[in-house]
Amino acid sequence: MVYINVAVCLSVLLLVIGLSVGLSVNTFRGRDALDSAPLIDGHNDLPYNLYGKLNNHLSDFNFESDLSNDSVWGKKACDSCFTDLPRLLKGKVGGQFWVAYVSCSSQYKDSLQLTMRQIDVIRRFIQKYPNNLQLVTEAGDIETTWRSGKIASMIGVEGGHSLDSSLAVLRLYYDLGVRYVTLTHTCNTPWADASTVDDGYVYNLTEFGQAMVYEMNRIGMLVDLSHVSHNVMREVLAITKAPVIFSHSSAFSVCNHYRNVPDDVLHLVKKNNGVVMVNFYSEFVNCNASRNATMEDVIKHINHIRRLIGPDHIGIGGDYDGVSSMPVGLEDVSKYPDLFDRLYESREGEPRWTKEDLEKLAGRNLIRVFQATEAVGTKL
Ligand SMILES: *[C@@H]1O[C@H](CO)[C@@H](O)[C@H](O)[C@H]1NC(C)=O
Ligand SMILES: *[C@@H]1O[C@H](CO)[C@@H](O)[C@H](O)[C@H]1NC(C)=O
Ligand SMILES: *[C@@H]1O[C@H](CO)[C@@H](O)[C@H](O)[C@H]1NC(C)=O
Ligand SMILES: *[C@@H]1O[C@H](CO)[C@@H](O)[C@H](O)[C@H]1NC(C)=O
Ligand SMILES: [Zn+2]
Repeated sequence: MVYINVAVCLSVLLLVIGLSVGLSVNTFRGRDALDSAPLIDGHNDLPYNLYGKLNNHLSDFNFESDLSNDSVWGKKACDSCFTDLPRLLKGKVGGQFWVAYVSCSSQYKDSLQLTMRQIDVIRRFIQKYPNNLQLVTEAGDIETTWRSGKIASMIGVEGGHSLDSSLAVLRLYYDLGVRYVTLTHTCNTPWADASTVDDGYVYNLTEFGQAMVYEMNRIGMLVDLSHVSHNVMREVLAITKAPVIFSHSSAFSVCNHYRNVPDDVLHLVKKNNGVVMVNFYSEFVNCNASRNATMEDVIKHINHIRRLIGPDHIGIGGDYDGVSSMPVGLEDVSKYPDLFDRLYESREGEPRWTKEDLEKLAGRNLIRVFQATEAVGTKL
């Protein structure tokens, strides 16, 4: 009798285990990858909206409320406002580079002071919400921060004009917690061309530009090649000692906008072991003026990059709050999980996305590049 009971118990147990394994396989959705790896977005310009709308008075910003219909921050009132805490949580965002950006019109004037203000507002913003945000300055802390239920919050400076051609400023930004610098925004600096020069050149990357890249390598600062000219992408990739990132750029051969990355550079990124974090901005993902951009366009960019250079060099850099038009289906920061669900479908003719691939896309590729950059810094 005892044996029979044990046998019955065992078979019931096996059945339950079998069922739950079966169920978990059957019910896996792409978004579930965002529970096993942090989703790290490379570029969010909320800090620039805090500057533009509130002159950085954080007390007037209701980050903890869903602001979709807010009279200042809602979609009717603001065409570049897509971010608040409830929607970040719904979007399963685990890590975010908050961007210290100041306009190119400040170059050679007060770009440095304005950038300091933006770094300051990001740091105060992170400190204000200690239950939900935490400043992260080391790759190894991203995952532990995310596992503790907080958004790993990192700082990027967008545009070499913020450096005022000074290696000292670069080093001090690092000390303030900045972990990437985008070499240009839409203006050429005296040492690097922006994408706005298209495929011609003014300076390319000058000798001083090379010194800037070398100093970034030496201190462990991520080199961000979004916004630079295609030639500067090539020139940096030829000399950098660390893998690079594109914090918010898509694929040029899918949509011929000079902000996007051409195929030959994608091959160089693979060789460099870097990562291209795909931008969602409607104008960059869809070049067909007679229709609106949709999530399907973003899927095309991601799959193009994956087909060309594999799943180890793609990430996500939505560009929320930095642009005025987002694709249908990716309207705000709550929508990332839908993108991962859709990728996992791996439709006819598309690459097949496994859970591991989706985890790499979500954040593991960026963490790898960040760690490699730290290692290069240590070595140099
Ligand atoms: C915003 O307004 C839309 C349309 O009226 C509504 O469906 C939605 O629930 C509102 N969202 C919030 C957070 O109030
Ligand atoms: C600019 O960079 C491109 C790509 O590396 C190169 O072909 C070109 O010769 C460079 N021009 C100058 C003036 O250095
Ligand atoms: C652009 O979009 C329109 C409307 O959807 C479509 O009819 C046309 O074929 C598209 N053009 C290209 C080049 O894809
Ligand atoms: C694109 O979307 C906008 C806003 O939703 C709409 O007004 C416009 O008609 C759409 N354009 C096309 C070509 O579908
Ligand atoms: Zn940008």
